Amino acid sequence: MPSYPVADILTTRKTTKVMFDPERPAAPETDRETIESLIALAGWAPFHKPAHRVHWRGTRTIEPWRFHLADAATCRRLIGFVQDNAEKAGRVPQMLAAAQALILATWLPNPPENGDDGLNGGLFDPTMANMEHIAAASAAVQSFLLAATERGLTTYWSSGGYLRDAATFDLLGIPAQQILLGAVFVFPNDGGERIPGGMRDKRSERAAWSTWVTPRE
Ligand SMILES: Cc1cc2nc3c(=O)[nH]c(=O)nc-3n(C[C@H](O)[C@H](O)[C@H](O)COP(=O)(O)O)c2cc1C
Repeated sequence: MPSYPVADILTTRKTTKVMFDPERPAAPETDRETIESLIALAGWAPFHKPAHRVHWRGTRTIEPWRFHLADAATCRRLIGFVQDNAEKAGRVPQMLAAAQALILATWLPNPPENGDDGLNGGLFDPTMANMEHIAAASAAVQSFLLAATERGLTTYWSSGGYLRDAATFDLLGIPAQQILLGAVFVFPNDGGERIPGGMRDKRSERAAWSTWVTPRE
C-alpha cells in the first residue's frame, strides 16, 4: 500500500483564512462525502475517559468531542444571523460567505460540582478529567486538519467569534452543555481574499521548547 509521508502532511498543513464579500458569496458547494470521511478519520484520535453521561442523549456515545457540520448553504444562511445579532461580527460573515463547510467542534465538560449547570459555554471545573477531554478533542481537530491537508483542502481553525455564542448553538440545535473548541472552516482553494495564520512565521526552533531531561544529582 502506498504511504503518504506524515512529515509532509504535518509541515504542509497551514492556516488560510478566506474571505468573500457577503453580498457576492462563493457558490455553495459542499462535498459532504469527503467531509464525513475526514471526520471519521478524526474520530481515531486518542481519548482517555468517557464523556459524562449527561452528554450521551440516549445513546452511549463516549467520545469527549462532538463535530457539528454545516454545509455551504447553511454557512450562507448564517451570514445574516451573525450580522444581525453579533455585537462584533469581525470577519466571520466574510468567511461564512467563502466556506464550503464549517465544522463546529465541541468538547464535553464534566458537569460542574458547584451546582452551576455549566450551560452556555460558561466556566468548567479545572479538573484533570476536563483537561484530558479538551486534549482529546484537540487531537481530533488536528487529525481532521491533517486529513484535510492530505486531500488538498484549505482550512482554518478559528475560535469562532459569534459562532460560539449561546444563540448560535440554540439556532443550530447544539446542546448548551457543550463548549466550542474550534470553528473549523473548509474553504475553496481559489478566489477571495486569502490571509495566512498570524503565528505561522513566528515559530521557534525545536530546541527552544524541547530538551532532554535527566534526574537531579
Ligand atoms: C485553538 C485555536 C484557536 C485559534 N483561533 C484563532 C482565531 O480565533 N483567529 C485567528 O486568526 N487564528 C486562530 N487560530 C489559528 C492560528 O492563528 C494559526 O494556527 C497560527 O497562526 C499558526 O499558523 P498555521 O496554522 O498556518 O501554522 C487558532 C488556532 C488554535 C489552535
